[in-house]
Amino acid sequence: MKRKVSVIGAGFVGTMTAQRIVEKNLADVVLIDIVEGLPQGKALDIMQSAPIEGFVSRITGSNDFADAAHSDIAVFTAGFPRTPGMSRDELALKNGGIVQSVVKEIARHAPDCIIIMVTNPLDVMTHLAWRTSGFPARRVMGMGGVLDTARYRAFLAEELDVPASDIEAIVLGSHGDTMVPANIHTTSKGIPVSQLMEKEKLDSIIERTKKGGAEIVGLLKSGSAWHAPSSSAVAMVEAILNDSKRLLPASAYLTGQYNIEDIYIGVPVKLGGAGIEEIREIALSDEELKGLRQSAEAVRETLKKI
Ligand code: NAI
Ligand code: 2OP
Repeated sequence: MKRKVSVIGAGFVGTMTAQRIVEKNLADVVLIDIVEGLPQGKALDIMQSAPIEGFVSRITGSNDFADAAHSDIAVFTAGFPRTPGMSRDELALKNGGIVQSVVKEIARHAPDCIIIMVTNPLDVMTHLAWRTSGFPARRVMGMGGVLDTARYRAFLAEELDVPASDIEAIVLGSHGDTMVPANIHTTSKGIPVSQLMEKEKLDSIIERTKKGGAEIVGLLKSGSAWHAPSSSAVAMVEAILNDSKRLLPASAYLTGQYNIEDIYIGVPVKLGGAGIEEIREIALSDEELKGLRQSAEAVRETLKKI
């Protein structure tokens, strides 16, 4: 059966997400943006790479949200990225208006879809999308933890001089300065990384991970990361479309898990065809649990400002 993914926002993250989806033949894609010609031009360019890359999925561009009809998934990347020195929270007001207006359109035209939010500040925008859509919480989630975990794994692999795929880790909490690496679950081929490097080194890698997005913003001078973010969003799309039940960190609506409720925050979830099929409560140290709760309160505070 043909599957369809709408990617909202034809900027850096959205375009690369669309490209990765069709190159993997996961689904047909409609790329939607408000700027006339932008999504159409980018979709046409990607489509013309099909004979060389060998994919059969179709991609089109549109300025009309009605073209999201019958989507299985809508990936939201519409909105402004950070500028150097700007926090994700400062984006809340600017992007909140965009998210609310676009989510209304998507909920109207694709009422059965699953929403994957990417726009920052991630956890706040995901909460807003859930509230605005009226969808069940299992069908609204945010991409932050997959990216933060990938950065953490990449930095650890570089330090230990091993393939990144050998590193298992999970980063929880908000996609922001208060993210929480769950360290008893951080291993290299099953060996806790705390046994493989000095505490100071591990602490500095954790700090670098927390500032992973800002490090790239600072280097680029304008705009933010898009290669690893699009890989991360597509990992979630793939888990849902293939009903693979992967355990991934995602921003999910908590109803008492980890003693946190009524807020979206990054936690391990089982991702399958129905969306978030389960929220997993994993063992955390007292300090990590405290960090997760503080992270949730920081999201709640920003949400109040919108
Ligand atoms: P970008 O500026 O390249 O693209 C944003 C696109 O959204 C633009 O093409 C713009 O025309 C479009 N847009 C604005 N309002 C719209 C509307 N109402 N409807 C449809 N499209 C609209 O930005 P980029 O780099 O693609 O980042 C997009 C968002 O993703 C930013 O908020 C950024 O902070 C966030 N982000 C989140 C990550 C995460 O881990 N959750 C990682 C990377 C980026
Ligand atoms: C990142 O972490 C900007 O949230 C984006 O790269």
